[in-house]
Amino acid sequence: MNRIFSGVQPTGNLHLGNYLGAIRNWVRLQSEYECVFCIVDMHAITVWQDPQGLRDHTREVTAGMLAAGVDPARNVVFNQSQVPAHAELAWIFNCVARLGWLNRMTQFKEKAGKHRENASVGLYAYPNLMAADILAYRATHVPVGEDQKQHLELARDIAQKFNGDYGRDFFPLPEPLIFGAATRVMSLRDGTKKMSKSDESDYSRINMTDDADTIALKIRKAKTDLEPLPAEESGLEGRPEAANLVGIFAALADRTRQEVLTDFAGAQFSEFKKALTELAVATLGPMNAEMKRLLADPGHVDSVLRDGGRRARELSEPIMREVFDIVGFLRP
Ligand code: TYM
Repeated sequence: MNRIFSGVQPTGNLHLGNYLGAIRNWVRLQSEYECVFCIVDMHAITVWQDPQGLRDHTREVTAGMLAAGVDPARNVVFNQSQVPAHAELAWIFNCVARLGWLNRMTQFKEKAGKHRENASVGLYAYPNLMAADILAYRATHVPVGEDQKQHLELARDIAQKFNGDYGRDFFPLPEPLIFGAATRVMSLRDGTKKMSKSDESDYSRINMTDDADTIALKIRKAKTDLEPLPAEESGLEGRPEAANLVGIFAALADRTRQEVLTDFAGAQFSEFKKALTELAVATLGPMNAEMKRLLADPGHVDSVLRDGGRRARELSEPIMREVFDIVGFLRP
């Protein structure tokens, strides 16, 4: 049976990268697969989070997912800390994964930076918890942006080693689903850096909570080069900012980059940015309004998460009973 699992961290507002790289794809997959979507608050605290900020962002990210079209009746939508299986399986995976595997994780190196000795142990073991998220539901497919690919490979290695160590074909090897014209949306200020919740400059990203004026301003200020747009995709080589804006346009319009370039060949950025602003506002505007409506009633958002948490426990508990049995944990 195919089952999807994916997650998003409540460390800030959802941005266009999260939407185009992941959440929009979740919405497209929800009619084909059984889906479990998780707001990963336990991952969030691998770096310091103010407690009230974490609560607020958990509700905001949930509202953003619902506003983008994730249907909580059809899918399981919940925050991770409500379901013990994540922490339980993560511990077992801490004992399956090898130090050498984690040492290769580029995201840890980027996030820990020069202060490696001062990073939390949780940040280091982060990919093991991520593997546990997926495998506590024995999920087979994981729709994510490009940046999560290495973590997914590690999840497959962990599943394979567990199966091998215990001589059981228990966990599936989860497949990444990375698709769309914007699997890696870059910063609007620097086309070589990923758009991210943690970038200091808010001008680097378009948030799902930004209003039309803010979106227009951020796109107007977005870094570009001086050349007009090329007619062919090959003309975007060595032009990271231009490539990024064209990719964003293509993803929002649901077209290929080449189709967008055919329409805008020879255009100046001023003209292209106007069209991009209109498109972004037309797509994000209604979501923004729906998010505001949902956040005006936090009780409703909480009830969605509570119901999702109950259903997630129902799915994961029988799997964890088997895991405990396989590992040899006595449950007298
Ligand atoms: P997070 O919260 O950083 O991002 C959530 C999703 O958005 C995608 N994404 C992007 N896609 C394209 N361009 C970007 N600039 C961009 N930034 C983010 C991410 O690839 C992701 O799909 N570790 C995960 C959360 C997680 C998870 C999981 C995901 C925890 N457990 C299990 C899948 C399965 C993360 O930090 O995502």
